[in-house]
Amino acid sequence: MVYQIYPRSFADANNDGIGDVRGMIDKLDYLKDLGVNAVWVSPWYPSPMADGGYDVTDYCDIDASFGTLADADEFVVGAHERGLRVLIDLVPNHSSEAHPAFRAALGAGPGSPEREMFHFADGTGSDGSRPPNNWGSLFGGPAWERVVGPSGPEQWYLHMFAPEQPDWNWVNPAVVALFDDVIRFWFDRGVDGLRVDVADGLVKATGYPDTPIDPDTGLGIASFYPGHPWWNQPELEAIQRHWREIGDGYADRHLGERIFVCEANTKPLDALMRFVDAGRMHTTFNFDMLWCEWEAGSLRAMIDRNLVSHATVGAPTTWVLGNHDCTRVVTRYGKPETGRPFTLDGPPAEWQYRFADYFTPMPTDNELGRRRARAAALLELALPGPAYIYQGEELGLPEVEDLPDAARQDPSFFRAGGRTKGRDGCRVPLPWSATTPPYGFGTDAQPWLPQPPVWAELSAAAQVGDADSTLTLYRRALAVRGTHPALGDGALAWGDTYPGKVLYFTREPGFGCLVNISGAPVDLPSGAEVVVASAPLVDGRVPTDTTVWLTLASD
Ligand code: NOJ
Ligand code: CA
Repeated sequence: MVYQIYPRSFADANNDGIGDVRGMIDKLDYLKDLGVNAVWVSPWYPSPMADGGYDVTDYCDIDASFGTLADADEFVVGAHERGLRVLIDLVPNHSSEAHPAFRAALGAGPGSPEREMFHFADGTGSDGSRPPNNWGSLFGGPAWERVVGPSGPEQWYLHMFAPEQPDWNWVNPAVVALFDDVIRFWFDRGVDGLRVDVADGLVKATGYPDTPIDPDTGLGIASFYPGHPWWNQPELEAIQRHWREIGDGYADRHLGERIFVCEANTKPLDALMRFVDAGRMHTTFNFDMLWCEWEAGSLRAMIDRNLVSHATVGAPTTWVLGNHDCTRVVTRYGKPETGRPFTLDGPPAEWQYRFADYFTPMPTDNELGRRRARAAALLELALPGPAYIYQGEELGLPEVEDLPDAARQDPSFFRAGGRTKGRDGCRVPLPWSATTPPYGFGTDAQPWLPQPPVWAELSAAAQVGDADSTLTLYRRALAVRGTHPALGDGALAWGDTYPGKVLYFTREPGFGCLVNISGAPVDLPSGAEVVVASAPLVDGRVPTDTTVWLTLASD
């Protein structure tokens, strides 16, 4: 199980309101006690924080607000001492406008090798005052920004995300070489793997062809569709094989395995599976689970299509319920609509064109959402393959939906013209202890986003001794998962002894998982004993929105 740390919001050791690496070091024992095998750390690099650190000015250092390289080394060593592997974020699609290479490109002028490191192009219209093409940015607005030099407006540069995040030009060998050094820098320091940001977007089609107009924005569609000129271009394969060779070189020298996990939204699933072909990346996130509705038929179809597709390439399926980019799982499942329907062919086609619906303006029942989130956690952790848990899921934190707009920092909020509240609501600093802000995040400094009163009862300290808490449920489930011979990799078999609204599968040896999403309680399979339950049984029966892990009677 991989635990995602979003450093700004995890723990603030020096009490300046911003999470830091020393705070991460302080919490290593918490992670070990939780039962985590690995952590993934979202970007900790020097950054102006225009996109929470996904705008990098130096890929080989630590942001001063987070600490120092020595702190990072200490974190890696401390994690390893506790048996935890460390993955960090690699952000190869774009840098920061403050990156020295981009500053040099601005200064060097059109046609220079410095500009070839990025995507600079002349504007259109008689005076070049219109962007080179119609592309829209994933955060809203055009994907091109015009450079204003000493002698006035001149070329434009490409940014898939915010204007502060210029895209690298991956067909330039100098960019490949720059990132080779970055990858080796961290692997040499003992980092075990890289989560590759925007892994399917690095290469842009030659000539920057227009995309069809998105009716929501009036600009060219930015989100993935098959044939889109910046998603899943054929040149990605060579880049991935090259990175894999670098990583495998460490294992070859007996320095330990180094792995890659792709953040990619490429569809259909068969196309995404090419990313994990032999000799390419080890795993890729499976976002289907994150988007799937809380409905038995959809969940079963979503699980089956992912297991079957991954089996064709022999790569493990990952499972993702939440991350720093989407509404927290408790809140999603507390809405009247809990996600997308799925069939064996995937989600509905129109879904592929939408990116920024992080926030659905529907009422939320957090109690119902938490009940389902607990049931979903046991489902996720019972499935074959690595599970990703975003910090705070183990505390059952809801999305903070009522953050004042004045506190928000996410560029997608500012650039989307009100179409989304953005992602700040899932990034509110964690509650560790105490009953008033900052709830043990720091000692008394107010955190960079305000925490809600409900954090008092959801803090780790409030939950740790409570047998019914979400933290206790996660610790129990992860302890079982860590030792049970049926869990981890392997296969599952669906049992068809229940009606359609109940998911029931077994795994060898002797393990069963039952998820009741029907409106009525159901009986346990005969002879089964409950190992972990997401909610108490009622008269010996499994109530609605409850998952149980079972030890099955041997025949
Ligand atoms: C995906 C990251 O998870 C997200 O937080 C970020 O804004 C974009 N990539 C751009 O780096
Ligand atoms: Ca701090």
